[in-house]
Amino acid sequence: MKGIILSGGSGTRLRPLTKITSKQLLPVYHRPMIYYPLNTLIKAGIKEILIIVAPERAGDYLNLLGSGKEFGVKLTYEIQDKPEGLAQAFIIGENFIDEDDVVMILGDNIFEDDFSEEIKNFQGGAKVFAKKVPDPERFGVVKFNEQMKAEKIVEKPEEYLSNYAVTGLYVYDHRVVEVAKTIKASPRGELEITDVNNWFLERGELEVAEVKGEWLDAGTFDSLLEAQNFAKEKMVDKMII
Ligand code: G1P
Repeated sequence: MKGIILSGGSGTRLRPLTKITSKQLLPVYHRPMIYYPLNTLIKAGIKEILIIVAPERAGDYLNLLGSGKEFGVKLTYEIQDKPEGLAQAFIIGENFIDEDDVVMILGDNIFEDDFSEEIKNFQGGAKVFAKKVPDPERFGVVKFNEQMKAEKIVEKPEEYLSNYAVTGLYVYDHRVVEVAKTIKASPRGELEITDVNNWFLERGELEVAEVKGEWLDAGTFDSLLEAQNFAKEKMVDKMII
């Protein structure tokens, strides 16, 4: 199992905080934001991690994280020239993924849970992690049928489908690279990870697990502030880096 941290984008919603640095390098209490997803992967036993960054910030990531030796892992870096969607990470990471399974985590997602078992037990196909939220319209949302089986995932639905948001942690087998190459950009101009997930779901190969602990996506002023307080209260003793 390999790991990818997608840490691109220009953080427009956080300007001017992100005028001179990347959103995922902003402080979240005592650590730069990216330490949290990196910690999640390292705790799950992932040893080879690809970090995908925006071109103008690549030097900052190298200065901060380097080879990964300090953390006992091997870090490599790739550039995402333009933020053209989460699924683009698998095209950028094609050589890195090779024939292996891969777990991707978003650079601004903070999870309280330890996913070691979920990741170790992965048997192929795709696995996503959903969490009940009060504002599902901001996310990819799982629609369930009467048997509570996932029927479809819809990106930022306008109509209420359920309260289960798909969080920024995804596990796939190596076919994800070919799937990402076949999908077309959405109206917002992005290769949507939701389309990748639906490809596996339609074939009966998508598993939806529930996130038990807290989950935060620290991409707005309010969620960043919330993340800071949450990190101070709950995350300090969960960090191994
Ligand atoms: C992205 C995904 C969405 C997912 C969310 C998790 O949203 O498209 O499906 O629920 O990450 O943070 P975006 O950050 O692109 O709005």
